Amino acid sequence: MTITSDIQKAANLLTKGAVVAIPTETVYGLAGNIFNEKAIRTIFDLKKRPLYNPLIVHLKSYSDLEQVAVAIPDKARALAEAFWPGPLTLVLKKQPNISDLITAGKDTVAVRVPNHPVALALLNSLDFPLAAPSANPFGSISPTTASHVSNYFDPADLFVLDGGDCARGIESTIVGFEGDEPILYRAGATNISAIEAVVGPLKVFTKDDIAPVAPGMLSKHYAPSTPTFFTTNISESLENYSNKRIGLLSFCQTYNHPAIVFQNQLSRDQNLEEAASRLYALLHELDAQDIEVLLVEKVPHEGIGIAINDKLQRASVQ
Ligand code: TXA
Ligand code: MG
Repeated sequence: MTITSDIQKAANLLTKGAVVAIPTETVYGLAGNIFNEKAIRTIFDLKKRPLYNPLIVHLKSYSDLEQVAVAIPDKARALAEAFWPGPLTLVLKKQPNISDLITAGKDTVAVRVPNHPVALALLNSLDFPLAAPSANPFGSISPTTASHVSNYFDPADLFVLDGGDCARGIESTIVGFEGDEPILYRAGATNISAIEAVVGPLKVFTKDDIAPVAPGMLSKHYAPSTPTFFTTNISESLENYSNKRIGLLSFCQTYNHPAIVFQNQLSRDQNLEEAASRLYALLHELDAQDIEVLLVEKVPHEGIGIAINDKLQRASVQ
């Protein structure tokens, strides 16, 4: 494994059909040329990702959207103009030349323009877009640093382009369309209220509505290897697990209890943006401690807190 900041090297490897881990403003991605079937297959193999779970296509700019999507609703255009480059993924009717492997056989493709200087410089030096899921084995915690990625994969398998810590720290928000009407598929780094300010109310899929349209919706996801419990009442949960070695991830407060062996706070300043940016790095850190259970506290359910709670809940034993 090589971790480097050599964008040209990464571009050369991608052009040759290799898979490269790349930084984005949300999380690191495992990237490959969308027009190279072998590269796309390698992404699924490395991640051990089921083939029914489609990938996100990353473009260098909005002006490339017609290369991958057709019949783009006006509200999709309005969202792209408002939020790209940025952490919003749009699910649109695909161009026929987009492979079924990328879209898992659907007639739609997920697409976004990342807002990260290294990712954009890389995309600008390529003449093809990049398909990239988060750079973690299927179901585990997403990576927000180059070393999170290198800890997950076999050194021989992967070149990691280092772009530092991901500023936003949780995945993009995903919006699809039913006809012209926008639907929220996955809560993420772009606030729902900001999206609604552009296109009006979003319909939200609930678990019962669908077979997983977006497997970010699969209920168990983003999971540490330590049994993890989502709680609104830390003091009570501490009592329930007081015979275990407890790791604790709270929103802003520190707690005193003899069973706590390690704890951290998402944001001592109660800032939800900061909480999002630290979420996965702290889950990685806690998961590496000698603990038997991990308690994670619900954060205020507003703004990006909605996405944070969604990730925490999916990380937890259900
Ligand atoms: O922030 C992000 O979105 C990161 C960075 C790397 O861009 N990527 C990411 O990819 O989170 P991944 O593969 O971990 O999640 C992609 C989500 C999955 O839940 C997938 O099911 C959904 O996008 N998706 C992809 N294509 C879709 C489609 N055609 N219809 C519905 N959902 C789709
Ligand atoms: Mg993922």
